[in-house]
Amino acid sequence: MADYVGAIDQGTTSTRFMIFDHGGNEIARHQLEHEQIMPKPGWVEHSPFEIWERTSSAIKTTLARAGMQGSDLAALGITNQRETTVVWNKKTGRPYYNAIVWQDTRTDRIATALEREGHGDVIRRKAGLPPATYFSGGKIQWILENVEGVREAAEAGEAIFGNTDCWLLWNLTGGTRGGVHVTDVTNASRTMLMDLETLDWDDELLAMFDIPRQMLPEIRPSSDPEFYGHTLEDGPLGAAVPLSASLGDQQAAMVGQVCLAPGEAKNTYGTGNFLLLNTGTELVRSKNGLLSTVCYQFGDQPPIYALEGSIAVTGSAVQWLRDQLGLISGASQSETLAREVEDNGGVYFVPAFSGLFAPYWRSDARGAIVGLSRFNTNAHIARATLEAICYQSRDVADAMEKDSGVELEVLKVDGGVTANNLCMQIQADVLGVPVSRPVVAETTALGAAYAAGLAVGFWKDPEELRKNWNEDTRWEPQWSDEQRQDGYRGWQKAVQRTLDWVD
Ligand code: G3P
Repeated sequence: MADYVGAIDQGTTSTRFMIFDHGGNEIARHQLEHEQIMPKPGWVEHSPFEIWERTSSAIKTTLARAGMQGSDLAALGITNQRETTVVWNKKTGRPYYNAIVWQDTRTDRIATALEREGHGDVIRRKAGLPPATYFSGGKIQWILENVEGVREAAEAGEAIFGNTDCWLLWNLTGGTRGGVHVTDVTNASRTMLMDLETLDWDDELLAMFDIPRQMLPEIRPSSDPEFYGHTLEDGPLGAAVPLSASLGDQQAAMVGQVCLAPGEAKNTYGTGNFLLLNTGTELVRSKNGLLSTVCYQFGDQPPIYALEGSIAVTGSAVQWLRDQLGLISGASQSETLAREVEDNGGVYFVPAFSGLFAPYWRSDARGAIVGLSRFNTNAHIARATLEAICYQSRDVADAMEKDSGVELEVLKVDGGVTANNLCMQIQADVLGVPVSRPVVAETTALGAAYAAGLAVGFWKDPEELRKNWNEDTRWEPQWSDEQRQDGYRGWQKAVQRTLDWVD
């Protein structure tokens, strides 16, 4: 067997390809950004062709950097930004519309109507999700209703839907020359169209969105010994590599962090933050604004579920400081600037740019910076931005404790923002528990590689993966209980302002 496994991580802002060895060590990577298309307030789109082109280039450059051929890879896994919706024509390979990104709020009307018409409880019970703009169902409906010719083509079986995992799997396995139209259970669990218990598309849910079943992909396990297919020899890998895993990026990070037992949790700090708790084979239904979702399914084993607290805007709030306000020139400067002050100086920033996700689920909320006085400087805004990342995580951690009864003892973290030491220290302070970052911080790609490798026997079992996990840094809480309570009270007041904004 070949000595390495490859993973594509198709994220919200960029796509990377990574190669890992048997010890879970990174051998090589290349990462390319793609354009964030924002035609109107609240709308966020990506070009599916650009994503495919960037993926192909990232694969080729990584292989060249490693001095490898595609045939050096025992298997290939895909992980992806979830919910982002692509509808394309399977005969021409052309998307009917740009990918509608998970952050996009144009389907607000659809989500509100579902609740108003009394469908909310059915969706919560079957799909484990609240009606919200976040998920794919409303985005597919929007395309069917607003782009000419799509509904007829969908009914004729020509227009097909996929999240970006599915789009890449289709292209990698041949596209118009017979690409496979498949997705995995974790991605399907984010569409609002799959029943979490049957793991199949649900007719009642499909009817609510008026989506023809034939446009949906086949749902497969996240790690599949029967493979979804092989990459094309004349494709970017230049060889027929088994495509044996696909997972949404947050679920992949659970695997990469080896949160494979009930009660294990991780928080990923990307564009947004996603705190997931493994609930094992038990499907826990949230009473506190969290999502029930599939964590992973390995082969023919029963699915493992998770509770998830999704936060739309965390790392992207730092990008906003850079791109829209020009307050900093790079993400790392947010730490330097925030360190110029000892505390937030009374300022709270609630970056509700896509409304507020968990645990509030208010797509009508809008961002606010509150508590300003003449005393405040850019440094306070930077500090408040880092605190917002941590307070939003506190909101979902509290909800998770209430839902599961599991008290967090340590928070495993990963993702880009974990390079910000100040932010991680604030996270420990705000939560009152230690925060722990592993040596391999690229847990998303690693998780996809693990799932792909397990399917082909590159790794024997999850226990083998556990041995690869090592702590790199731990941050201990330093705030007093009083500081923690006062700080959080201020945050809750600020959140209330963003909810009141539209009332
Ligand atoms: O649900 C959205 C999430 O999967 C996006 O993750 O890392 O691309 O921001 P990320």
